[in-house]
Amino acid sequence: MNDFVYHIPTKVYFGKDQLGNLGEELKQFGQRVLLVYGGGSIKRNGLYDRVMAELKQAGLDVFELSGVDPNPRVASVNKGAEICKREKIDVLLAVGGGSTIDATKFIGAAAYYDGDAWDLVIRKAPITNCLPIVTILTLAATGSEMDAGGVISNPETREKLVCGHPALLPRVSFLDPTNTYSVSAFQTACGSADIMSHIFEVYFTMDEDLYMLDCVMEGLLKTVIKYTPIAIKEPANYEARANLMWASSWAINGFVNGGKQKAWSCHPLEHELSAFYDITHGLGLAILTPRWMEYALNETTVSKFYQFGCNVFDMDKNMEPMLVAKKSIELLSEFFFKTIGLQSTLSEIGIDDTHFSEMARKACKGDVLAGFKPLKQQDIEKIYRMCL
Ligand code: NZQ
Ligand code: ZN
Repeated sequence: MNDFVYHIPTKVYFGKDQLGNLGEELKQFGQRVLLVYGGGSIKRNGLYDRVMAELKQAGLDVFELSGVDPNPRVASVNKGAEICKREKIDVLLAVGGGSTIDATKFIGAAAYYDGDAWDLVIRKAPITNCLPIVTILTLAATGSEMDAGGVISNPETREKLVCGHPALLPRVSFLDPTNTYSVSAFQTACGSADIMSHIFEVYFTMDEDLYMLDCVMEGLLKTVIKYTPIAIKEPANYEARANLMWASSWAINGFVNGGKQKAWSCHPLEHELSAFYDITHGLGLAILTPRWMEYALNETTVSKFYQFGCNVFDMDKNMEPMLVAKKSIELLSEFFFKTIGLQSTLSEIGIDDTHFSEMARKACKGDVLAGFKPLKQQDIEKIYRMCL
């Protein structure tokens, strides 16, 4: 295994009675706050009013940017950065899911840049600094509340790109599971598919590994499999929402990586789907993952799938490894497409093969995606076709 550095200084307030600390936490960074949120779910579920009451009580000066879209657009980022510069904002408060938090990260970085924020996303200009970010998470999925990355879309160029920098890490995150009670069954299922995919991207490797981290990842996967159906059936089940919320942060906050350097596989393929068709990230991942697994399974990789089947789905260790491997992929498909009710094919969500070739070329940047199974353009096209 490789050497690594683990440094995630995000302070987390977890639980239902923590919002009283919001004012003090924000005040340490200054007086002028930009509150960033999405399409209004926080107004419908009452969180907006509770946050505003806290900000008022703390005597902070509040500015607002609303309307951040799912698959957040660079236009929102530029708008937010303008407000930061004009109003001399000291600290950003993101209240929402991954899209709101990601947009806020790039607003914070673009506040220190005198050009189009897209330059930062495509790395034409370096991120040099970022305004301090505090988050209140409302959807368990991306882990953006505790990681240093963000994903921004540019509809003009049909691109959706990932970019990260340590300065983007939220300073403080409030994780109150009750704030996810109002998340729909569909978004709950998509969020869980996303959490699981973040783990798969690291878990599936033939490199020498840390046994301890494999056990943690298997535990996280079992947690998501156990609690997602409960959260869907009983949206206000605290235990289910709490388990999913904390799993979302730990799936991607760097802890489970243990120094692994391999490229991710399903995420780059999914980001092209979202870039071209604006679909929900977790849904794209759910459709792609079992097909990618089928494509990656062979005599060399079978032992990892066998481990997955035995340790996550409790399959019989005495069975033939290839049988366990195939069955584990079937069980995962059943979980995504039956138990938690996600659509199972691209055709069902209106996607045909028109852009597969271009999407596949972009996903591997015209070269090779050097992940668990190295994927070239023609491999990726085949996987997209398997999803039709
Ligand atoms: O916009 P509002 O009105 O808030 O509604 C949202 C949105 O429609 C709604 N929602 C959120 N919390 C809710 C709620 N509805 C009711 N009650 C609540 N408590 O859910 C919808 C989806 O929200 P969004 O923020 O888009 O979802 P998610 O958290 O899944 O974020 C997806 C974005 O994050 C990126 C994805 O690519 C996508 O752009 N990712 C970010 C990552 C990161 N920063 O590390 C990693 C991920 O792999 C991912 O790529
Ligand atoms: Zn993801």
